[in-house]
Amino acid sequence: MATVLIVDDAEDISFSLGNLVKKEGFTPVIAATGNEALAILKTNIIDLIFLDIGLPDINGIKLIPAIREIAADSDIVMLTGRNEAKSAVDSLKAGAVDYIVKPFELIEFTTSLNRLMQSRLASKMAAIQSQKDDDSTMIGESQAMQPVKEALATAAEVKSPVLITGETGTGKELAAKAVHQQQTNKGVFVKVDCGTLSANLIESELFGYEKGAFTDAQASKKGLVEIADGGTLFLDEIGNLPISLQPKLLRLIADSTFRRVGGTRDIKVSVRIIAATNNNIEQQVANGHFRQDLFYRLNVIPIHLPPLRQRQDDIVLLAEYYLHYFNRELKKNIKGFTDIARANLLSHDWPGNIRELRNLVEREVIFCKSEWLQFQGDSPLTGKGEDNVQMASLAELERKHIANVLKACNNNKSKAAEILGITRTTLRTKTETG
Ligand SMILES: Nc1ncnc2c1ncn2[C@@H]1O[C@H](COP(=O)(O)OP(=O)(O)OP(=O)(O)O)[C@@H](O)[C@H]1O
Ligand SMILES: [Mg+2]
Repeated sequence: MATVLIVDDAEDISFSLGNLVKKEGFTPVIAATGNEALAILKTNIIDLIFLDIGLPDINGIKLIPAIREIAADSDIVMLTGRNEAKSAVDSLKAGAVDYIVKPFELIEFTTSLNRLMQSRLASKMAAIQSQKDDDSTMIGESQAMQPVKEALATAAEVKSPVLITGETGTGKELAAKAVHQQQTNKGVFVKVDCGTLSANLIESELFGYEKGAFTDAQASKKGLVEIADGGTLFLDEIGNLPISLQPKLLRLIADSTFRRVGGTRDIKVSVRIIAATNNNIEQQVANGHFRQDLFYRLNVIPIHLPPLRQRQDDIVLLAEYYLHYFNRELKKNIKGFTDIARANLLSHDWPGNIRELRNLVEREVIFCKSEWLQFQGDSPLTGKGEDNVQMASLAELERKHIANVLKACNNNKSKAAEILGITRTTLRTKTETG
């Protein structure tokens, strides 16, 4: 939750402002002196600071540079006296975003508070959720998806770490977003790809750095962990997290604290951790490539997404869903799949899982010229693609193909025989003899 620091030595003022902050739904923290304020800023993430000018130990304006040094991202609002017009200007020059002249009406305070909080939230959202969530519906009615649905619902009720496993394209990221979305007080969703950056880059990306931590560090910078405070941190490809960084993540999960690179102070955050991997992470633990203690910490709520080939009942459902989706996106009006197209969908193995299905439907919708979608001649589904050699016997393929065509035709044998180009009698013989 967003936190507001009130720095004022007049106890009655800070007490009533603290109450207002609470009433508006934020967390108040109070300091009576400049030094107290700096100490608080060192160990807490503060969004907004209301800063009195006449503090017992230092002039409020003089404190601004020191605050900027520690908490570069906090917004400062100055509380100035009636005859301090010059101070107001000076404080804005020093880096405050606004000022309120004392004595002020409480409404002035709450207006300033809410306005700044809203603009902070808006820019945070814009930075993080730049990807559109327009097709984030999770489709799946098959038997294999039932335990997944249950685990997702459980995960949404608590804040414990979640570990999502599954082959590429099975929907791990979508599942992570679903858990996040279903939460009350969800905050922001921040994704970190642990697979693409070097150990050093991931460390500063994740945990931020202090000024002077390395040659280029001219100013301190918040990491994604801090940005995710109050929300969800999605650690994608966790299996690729360098072993040197694993203790730091372990500590973050175990006691919600971490240090920026080059930092000496512990920073406390409240983040919900969801990790995902398509590696066999237990194997990695056995090989010594992934810490066992971290694995246990992450694997509190395990969610395994089954491959699409084990979700036969969902294939057509998903294909129809994406057909409608791309009809809308591409302003097409395709009515559905031909029976042959359905049979093709069902007999394919889907090594790329749902992503492969989605991409294929998109491509076919683009090129489809008729009312009903039939896969193009060079589609991997029509079996003419060169890299689609299935290592199975002819008899096996025939059996599978017949079963799929029958299923696609709702077991209408005449229709299936027609599609297969054989008589009903031949079809009967083939299905009876296996
Ligand atoms: N149950 C589902 N219903 C509808 N669409 C889905 C479903 N699961 C996944 N998708 C879609 O499939 C695509 C791949 O999903 P996602 O990126 O979540 O997979 P992933 O498991 O993270 O893959 P990778 O391991 O390659 O990163 C996305 O476009 C996603 O929207
Ligand atoms: Mg992914």
